[in-house]
Amino acid sequence: MPKVLVSDPVDQAGIDILSQVAQVDVNTGLSPEDLANAIAEYDGLMVRSGTQVTGEVIERASALKIIGRAGVGVDNIDVTAATRKGIVVVNSPQGNTIAAAEHALAMMLSLSRYIPEADRTVKSGQWNRKQFVGAEVYKKTLGLVGLGKIGSHVAAAAKAMGMKLMAYDPYISVDRAEHMGCRLVELDILFREADYITLHIPKTPETVNLIDAEAIATMKPTVRIVNCARGGLIDEAALAKALEEGRIAGAALDVYGNEPLEADSPLRAVGKQLVLTPHLGASTAEAQINVAIDVAEQIRDVLLGLPARSAVNISGLYPDTMEKLRPYLQLAETLGNLTAQLAGGRVQTLKVSLQGDLANVESQPIVVAALKGLLSQALRERVNYVNASIEAKERGIRVIETRDAAARDYSGSLHLEAQGSLGEHSVTGTLLGDGEIRITEVDEFPVNVPPIKHMLFTRHRDMPGIIGKLGSLLGSFNVNIASMQVGRKIVRGDAVMVLSLDDPLPEGLLEEITKVAGIRDAYTVEL
Ligand code: NAD
Ligand code: MLT
Repeated sequence: MPKVLVSDPVDQAGIDILSQVAQVDVNTGLSPEDLANAIAEYDGLMVRSGTQVTGEVIERASALKIIGRAGVGVDNIDVTAATRKGIVVVNSPQGNTIAAAEHALAMMLSLSRYIPEADRTVKSGQWNRKQFVGAEVYKKTLGLVGLGKIGSHVAAAAKAMGMKLMAYDPYISVDRAEHMGCRLVELDILFREADYITLHIPKTPETVNLIDAEAIATMKPTVRIVNCARGGLIDEAALAKALEEGRIAGAALDVYGNEPLEADSPLRAVGKQLVLTPHLGASTAEAQINVAIDVAEQIRDVLLGLPARSAVNISGLYPDTMEKLRPYLQLAETLGNLTAQLAGGRVQTLKVSLQGDLANVESQPIVVAALKGLLSQALRERVNYVNASIEAKERGIRVIETRDAAARDYSGSLHLEAQGSLGEHSVTGTLLGDGEIRITEVDEFPVNVPPIKHMLFTRHRDMPGIIGKLGSLLGSFNVNIASMQVGRKIVRGDAVMVLSLDDPLPEGLLEEITKVAGIRDAYTVEL
């Protein structure tokens, strides 16, 4: 039975799902060293934001197939290292959207009305009404940085409260923003004009310290800033200084550059104009159940050999697509493997041509499958759908993809071509009505053979007696021929022979075959 480690607190609903297919160990107090020492025995790992899944942990994760992040941000996981190792990383992109959006709205309102500080003073016996004169959000301009899932939800609620909306998000269209009632603007305009700024973006090299002293200097003195997205987006020292000096009206933070927030952080000294919560954006009962179920189901599916619905490192390979394309993926992988063996090592370019009906399907999964097949010669089981593209890129393999919907020979064909240490070779294949794979061309010569475990391909001159000679040579080495086909374009011209064999070729036989008069090249293929 596979083993799954749950190393951060997650809802029991998720553990129950995992327990259907795996032995589940919940161990939430592991130090980074303890985790690195323990990880080798696990097939799955489930975390929230507390566990740092570093490159070292991944390096030692010899059996790990999947890392599940019960939440959105995967910045506590070395996704690149996981991808390279072929480990699927999944998250729950929507499980806590509402919780995080509602927290941002709650922060905006409590900051505007000084609710945390007012609460504290009442509880300590005071009754200070004058000290807590706040501001209304009605008719104020909200500048949303990031208009994805959470940003959009905040926008809709803010609009309902009568706020005017502007947004900065270079990756969404003007139409989409306008549909939400948002004016799409450049960041400097948003900083200059907004009364409230809320951040809903990931932490990336381009968003680190997006709000620093320089940006703050361009903002209105009445601006209030809310960050419930990621720590590191705001320069905390600059923010604390601007708040202390009354340079801006307020800020509310749920996330920090270092979590937990350092004891000596200058933020701790700021008064009622700063509201702080300890990363509570996703902390609702509903969100915790949602993310636990979402991620546990994906871990279960991957351990059962099924695709995951929200893999962050298998871009574009959605389960529905994978399911629909499954027979074509098998075709692409088989042809990729065959091409690699014909072309030999050091392939620099793989040409992938989708022909006929196949020209109309989503090509990316098919290209990934072809690369997986191509690299399986060198990497064996280390290559999978997660890391095939990255492994190819690292080896400098360039993929050239073409489509030809007009090709008519078969309803849909896949053609692969590669130049390797054994020269340039190409294969074409198709699927028959029953889903069976047929190799329909080798090096542009027409054939019609199913791929089988042991195969022999030759390039030879079409001339009398050559088939007989090859047959007797194989017979003399006790190799049984299951089927044989010759592909030629003209009589007595160049030709290929494809032999399906019941047995692998014994050592030395390939060399003997190339000595047969008329045979130019011979390739043995194991599928
Ligand atoms: P999302 O992917 O749906 O949206 C992010 C948006 O940011 C996208 O529209 C993207 O185009 C935009 N974006 C990316 N780079 C940008 C840039 N440089 N400038 C402007 N926009 C940019 O993500 P989401 O689910 O809305 O989550 C937003 C953030 O909230 C993430 O960082 C997530 O980790 C965080 N989050 C925090 C909590 C919490 O507990 N505080 C909970 C959930 C999510
Ligand atoms: C997230 O990215 O989902 C949040 O940071 C919430 C969390 O996991 O605590």
